Amino acid sequence: MKKSVRRAVIAGNWKMNKTPAEATALINEMKPLVAGADCDVVLCVPFIDIPAAVQAAKESNIAIGAENVHFKASGAYTGEISAEMLVEAGVQYVVIGHSERRQYFGETDQTVNLRTLAALNAGLKAIVCVGETLEQRELGYTETLLKYQTKMALTNVTAEQLKNVIIAYEPVWAIGTGVTATADQADEGNGFVRAAIAEAYGTDVAETVTVQYGGSMNAKNAEELLAKEHVDGGLIGGASLKAADFATIVAAAK
Ligand code: 13P
Repeated sequence: MKKSVRRAVIAGNWKMNKTPAEATALINEMKPLVAGADCDVVLCVPFIDIPAAVQAAKESNIAIGAENVHFKASGAYTGEISAEMLVEAGVQYVVIGHSERRQYFGETDQTVNLRTLAALNAGLKAIVCVGETLEQRELGYTETLLKYQTKMALTNVTAEQLKNVIIAYEPVWAIGTGVTATADQADEGNGFVRAAIAEAYGTDVAETVTVQYGGSMNAKNAEELLAKEHVDGGLIGGASLKAADFATIVAAAK
């Protein structure tokens, strides 16, 4: 029903791409192309690119995000970055629980929840990723898994804090494969996420939460995906590395 009450958010996730100098160049190229956006525009970049990206995006409508955050405030956690460090660097958003982190770096539903709480307590907006593997889909577990991942990620998150949460439904089988979920599959998955939020917080709250789709979203298929009732935005990998493609996706979101 309430797609119109939700803010559309298009976020790029650069993953491990672009040096700081390349980040500056790409953002400078993107800025004029997305200046008239009717949605929130975010670029989530590698930690080392953050100062350059924040500088390049100054006085534009592009907000900068990180791709991960540690759940402890400080201490002996070699190689990690805290939420406070991100805030001081000018970061506004952070991607949490991306399937690549779950798959390659031992991320669990518990650590996703801890990172989400740390991000929210520091005043960051959290883009929390959930999604099923192809095997889980074929076994018929998609709804159960998406609801479980969503509820686990949001454990101890208050309804007030939920205003700073975006959930990104990213079917693992659609990430970087060129195989996009059909618009109906994306809408269904996003709908399962919203149903899980409704079970935990009530329908009225669930209707206000932005739920993105991610997984091979591109300049060609964005409009059809974003037209769906439960698809309030996109988390874009490969296509966010090309200014014109990313701008086309931004233009498709209202
Ligand atoms: P692709 O758009 O490259 O499939 O990546 C999606 C993604 O993982 C965004 O977080």
